[in-house]
This record gives sequence, C-alpha cells and structure tokens, in this order.
Amino acid sequence: MTRYLLWFAHELVDFRYPEILSITSMFNISIKFIEKPSSQKPYWIVELPDEESARKIASRSISLKSCIELWARAKTGLQLHENLKQSLKNFQGKWLVPVKWKELDISDSHICPFILLEGMEEKSFKIEVETFCKHFSMSEKIEKIEAFNYLPLQGPVKLKNPDVTLSYIEFYGTDPNNPPDLPYDLFFGRWVAEGQRDLIQQYSLKKRKFIGNTSMDAQLSFLMVNQAQVTPGHLVLDPFVGSGSVLVAAAHFGGHVWGSDIDYMMLHARTRPTRVGHKTRSKDESIRSNMTQYGVQSQYLDVVVSDFSLPLWRDHMQFDAIITDPPYGVREPTEKIGIDRENYTLSEEHLINHIPSKVDYGLPHMYGDLMTFAAKHLHKSHRFVCWYPVIRDEYDESMLPSHPCLKLVANSEQILTKLTARRLLTYEKISEGIPNVPVDLDNVISNFRNKYFAAGEMTRRQKKEKQSDEINSNTETNIKPQNVT
Ligand SMILES: C[S@@+](CC[C@H](N)C(=O)[O-])C[C@H]1O[C@@H](n2cnc3c(N)ncnc32)[C@H](O)[C@@H]1O
Repeated sequence: MTRYLLWFAHELVDFRYPEILSITSMFNISIKFIEKPSSQKPYWIVELPDEESARKIASRSISLKSCIELWARAKTGLQLHENLKQSLKNFQGKWLVPVKWKELDISDSHICPFILLEGMEEKSFKIEVETFCKHFSMSEKIEKIEAFNYLPLQGPVKLKNPDVTLSYIEFYGTDPNNPPDLPYDLFFGRWVAEGQRDLIQQYSLKKRKFIGNTSMDAQLSFLMVNQAQVTPGHLVLDPFVGSGSVLVAAAHFGGHVWGSDIDYMMLHARTRPTRVGHKTRSKDESIRSNMTQYGVQSQYLDVVVSDFSLPLWRDHMQFDAIITDPPYGVREPTEKIGIDRENYTLSEEHLINHIPSKVDYGLPHMYGDLMTFAAKHLHKSHRFVCWYPVIRDEYDESMLPSHPCLKLVANSEQILTKLTARRLLTYEKISEGIPNVPVDLDNVISNFRNKYFAAGEMTRRQKKEKQSDEINSNTETNIKPQNVT
C-alpha cells in the first residue's frame, strides 16, 4: 500500500465520501483511511494498493482536485523538511537521483552534489506551492520552493508538462477571513493525477445548447452518475429526464442513455426559453443536439414522452442504472395523467384529438412508483439514484422511502435554503425477488410544496417583489437563485 494525499474542492462536502466510496467499490479498489475524514478539511490521507488505483479514482471523481503521493507531512515547516529528508530514500532511483544517504548530512539544507548514475534517466521537474486559505506573493512562493534545494533532482526545471511535479501544500484552515500566522498542516509529495473538476466547465449549463428551468448543473449530474457507478456499456435510464442533464453526464462515462418525461413540450424543446433575454428557442435545440455538442451522440438511445405512473417498459427490461430528479412540486407541478371524475368515458369522435387531463401525483405515490420500478427493472447489485426534498427541521432518516429489495447505501444533503434541502439518495438492488409487500411510504414527505411555503419560503413572485422593493429602497440584496424543482 502507498500513502496518498487526496485534495478536494471544499464544496458539497457531504457528497465527497459517498462519491469516493462509490468509485472505489466500482473499481474494486481497497482504500485505507489513515485519519478519519473531516468535513473541516479539504484533504484525506489514505493508503491505496498502487498508483494505478489512484489514477482510476482521479479519472472519475468530480470532488477531487488532485492526488499526491505523500512523501512527508508535518505540523511545522522545520519538521516537514526533516521528515522529507528521512523519507527520500524511499523514492530514490525512480524519481530522485540515488545517493548514499548515510553520508548525507540531513541537517544541511544546501544543495548536495548528486550525480546521475549511468543508465538512469534524467527527469525534468517542477515544484508547485499551494497555500489553502492564505495568499502568498510569487516571491514568497519562490522562497518556499528554494527551501527544498537539498532534493536530489538532476533533470532540468520544466514548468510545462515536466516528468515529475512535486507539490508543497500549506493548510491554513478553512476560514479565509481569519487565517492563522502559521499553517496547521504541511505536506510534500509527488503529484500523481488531477480529478475531473474540468468537466464542470466543459459541461457548464451556461454554454449548453438546450437547457430547461430545472436543468441539473454539471457538477451534481456527474456526482449522480458516479453514485450510480455508470461504466462504459451500461444501459442508463432517467424517467424524469427534462432537458437531459443527467443523460449527458452518464453518456460521458460511456453509458447508453434513455430518458422519458411527461412533458411533450420539454422533450421537443418547445417550452419558453430559459435564458434571460431570449424570446424564442432556436430550431436545433434538443437533448440530441446536446449530445452532439459534447461528442457523445453515439451513446444516445432516445427519449420518450411518457407518464411515469403508467407502465412503459416490458416486464423483463433491465437497466444498469436508474438516475433521476423527480419534481418536488415547488417550481414544477407533481402530476400524472388521470381524471378526478368517476366513470368518465370519452366519445369516439373526441378520442383522436384528446389531450388527457392530469391529477396530482403526490410525492409518496411518486417515490413508491420509483422504488417499485427500480426493484423490478434494475439488474441485481446495480444502483438507483434520486433526489428527495426535505424540510430540514423535520428531517429524519425514517422519512426516506424504503423497499425490501433496495438498500440505501448513501444519503447526502444539499442545502437549498435556510429551511429546505434535498438529499441525494443512492440505493443498491440487493435482491431479485420482489416480495408482495407494499413499499414503506408511511413517513415519506407528502406535500413538500405546502410545507415549503408554510415554512416561510417565498414564491418566485414574492421574491421578485421583495427584490424590486429592496432595489427601490436602495438596500443591498443577496438572494441566490434556487434549484428547488
Ligand atoms: C426536476 S425536472 C428534471 C430536470 C432534469 N434533471 C434536467 O436536467 O432537465 C422533473 C421532470 O419531471 C417531469 N415530470 C413531471 N411529472 C412527470 C410524470 N408523471 N411522468 C414523467 N415525467 C414527469 C417534468 O416534466 C420535468 O421535466
């Protein structure tokens, strides 16, 4: 086992652990925590079987910024250099020039005369300095780099694509307004791989051809797909597909993607334009054109207009992953096809042009259908991932939908407002047989919309009115756009 420093983006912290665990279990990688992961720190120290494992984790993680083979760690600068000098012999030959360490005065921090041995490749290198929560000027950073001049590095310095990148990191806590004078933790190691943070920009909704009002942002879509353990060749379904954000993320990781949605106008990109200032949608907006934009059109199977409450798929149809964000009733109604009137029949003449009416699709009923569907249509050991809205004060794990064939394996909170949140639930199918027991929905949140507004949240109109009142009275506003669907 080799020791690595996993450095994360310090956001969506609740999603970090489930994401990495989903990835390690997907690749069958054993991971050993050297210290308990803390939500107060943007890093973990772990042991992994080999570098290949570290690279695999980085090839999928959206939370991970970088992965570093840890050569030394300390609580003070002096100690870090001592620890590093002690540990260098483990890395000579491969990354560093071999030296007779017994002859080296390790208290001497000046350059030692290292000689490149015959047959040993010269390796270009650079040293990077990162300071978390405290800013240093370039000259201060160079001073920090020069303190490592005892390292037996023989190759030339190369700032772009060197053979070896060495990283020195100082951690000053997580409060940028009140950093300590000296760092809490210091690390030195060899950079091994970057995580997938670039995908957030590459797949940004800002640059996407077709988006809707409730399009899932790129970072969360990739987190969902990682939770679902999508790998190349998987058959993936989003039954509340909307503008298809989850599908593009699943397609990026090699999934063959299907979607369905009750809204014909949405699936045909004929809803009112979402972008501010746009009066019409362009003709070529569609989920398919998004797939083409990202070069993953070969992964796209199709989308179908369909009400999820009515069966669409053959009984024996099996998916490798079901990933979805159903409506919660705040910005979109929770509806299904139906009629409240009893014994309603339609005359022959009206059948052809009939547009069915809709009735309320309560959250317990909708989540019940989702659980039953996943239990029936997922391959065993595969995953169902969905969002679930909660009033934070009322939340209790017993509220979550459950099914005897599905095991809840992860549950992360994304705070939406002071009072509300949504939770990303990940279930694994553990049993093939579907026992004839009803899904346990006794505590499932029944009317999120009413509770949301009763808890004091404002409607969009109220917010707009408040905003314009505040602008009129020249006070500052700080209202964030909301993701509540
Ligand atoms: C939160 S949105 C999904 C947004 C989507 N993840 C995206 O990125 O655009 C929920 C979707 O569920 C659809 N929906 C609502 N009721 C439905 C039903 N009964 N059957 C199928 N889809 C439904 C809505 O039309 C809406 O597009």
